[in-house]
Amino acid sequence: MTKTIPHLVNRFVIDTDDTFDDLRQRFESLVPTIDFAELTVVIESGDLSRVRQYTAEHAPNSFVNFWTFDPTPMMALVGHRTRAITYMVGNNVIAETMFRHDPGVMLYAPLRTAIYEDNAGGVHLSIDQPSSRFASFADPRITEVGSVLDTKLAALLRLLGVPVPLELEETRRDLTHSKGADMKDTQIHAQYSTGLSRQNIEQALIAAGKDLDHLQPADLGLLEDFHTMGRIATSELVDLVGITSEHEVLDAGSGIGGTARYIADRCGCTVTAVDLTQEYCETACWLNRLVGLDKQITVRRADVTALPFADATFQVVFSQHVQMNVADKASVYREARRVMVGGGRLAMWDIVSGEGGELDFPLPWADEPGLSHLAKSERLRATVESSGFAIEHWNDRTEQAGAIMQTVLTLPPGLLGLHAFVPDFAEKAKNLTNALTDGRLRVIQGVAEAIVR
Ligand SMILES: C[S@@+](CC[C@H](N)C(=O)[O-])C[C@H]1O[C@@H](n2cnc3c(N)ncnc32)[C@H](O)[C@@H]1O
Repeated sequence: MTKTIPHLVNRFVIDTDDTFDDLRQRFESLVPTIDFAELTVVIESGDLSRVRQYTAEHAPNSFVNFWTFDPTPMMALVGHRTRAITYMVGNNVIAETMFRHDPGVMLYAPLRTAIYEDNAGGVHLSIDQPSSRFASFADPRITEVGSVLDTKLAALLRLLGVPVPLELEETRRDLTHSKGADMKDTQIHAQYSTGLSRQNIEQALIAAGKDLDHLQPADLGLLEDFHTMGRIATSELVDLVGITSEHEVLDAGSGIGGTARYIADRCGCTVTAVDLTQEYCETACWLNRLVGLDKQITVRRADVTALPFADATFQVVFSQHVQMNVADKASVYREARRVMVGGGRLAMWDIVSGEGGELDFPLPWADEPGLSHLAKSERLRATVESSGFAIEHWNDRTEQAGAIMQTVLTLPPGLLGLHAFVPDFAEKAKNLTNALTDGRLRVIQGVAEAIVR
């Protein structure tokens, strides 16, 4: 049976101020042409991580060019004076995340792109909106990848210095403000998922000379703590809370798993790591295996406001830089208290709102204000207390954090850092550091004991 699927596609025709040659040259340097024969050899090696690494290395801005077709000589033969060049741009690793749901997506992956002159001398870049093509498969998982491609295309157009169509900006807003049962999942996915965290980290580790077959937990220390002051903050909090090898520890909102690995390695205990971002959970599992901590650490995709664990399971609950994404803070600490034994400890490292002035976005936990849910320090403390905890330490570390972050920003970025997997990290870190320095944001280190009921 033949199916006919009518669907609506947004074709962007972006007017530019460039010359044809300049635009073409910039596009080709931002979207390098991949050596298809070489890629084929890598694929035929059967080593998926090598393929991911190869793709990441050749797609500095998420896309590579698989094919170029220059129709100009043929058109000139007939007397046309305008020039055009067409490309097929995409990313084989991202394409697979749609292919797994429907191989038919290959009709539109890679994306056809054209740069051309018109008769009046204007130069245009034209491409279809990825999500409008991929939505035609009527599979939300494919549509979601299409939306992620929209955001990546927007980033590429920004780098090219050409106008970004409103529809691409709207995709991010829709992802960030979508309503309904899966609103939180979608928002967090839009904020944190790139589809590339594992391959970008792998590439950074290899570039830094690490041997992935003999990786030690300490090798990851510079890139795995996704919070203010990085490893310094994690180690201080572990000192403060006191963890033994007998403890069962939960890391609530574990990101790519840096805190869980640090605790498991340093304290010799078992750790359960939960996070809402599926991609981060997968990257965490892979890193745990690489450093040989996968037997000590269990990773689960879960929401910190509805934890999938029995009452009184853990002696310690850690949570660093997660509640800023959660509006209903009481549910975070109520759940932490429920899964903790009486006398257990909650360890927190969190951003709260300070005084004066609007915040500048993006911030490390929120590209836009809609995803940032900040409370005042006293309010957060009261919420923790009313959830069944007695505060033992409540330290405002804003000054120290601002000073350390300022120093870090003056250093040239190394190969290993959060920029390896967090998009626009330099800008996010600068906005955070400025706000910590002038007091619009504050950072709190807290330890609280679960009151015995
Ligand atoms: C800034 S990162 C911090 C990650 C980690 N705690 C660390 O310090 O490296 C925030 C993390 O919180 C997770 N997150 C946000 N809301 C969540 C929720 N309701 N349940 C579970 N994880 C959540 C995000 O997926 C993201 O990985």
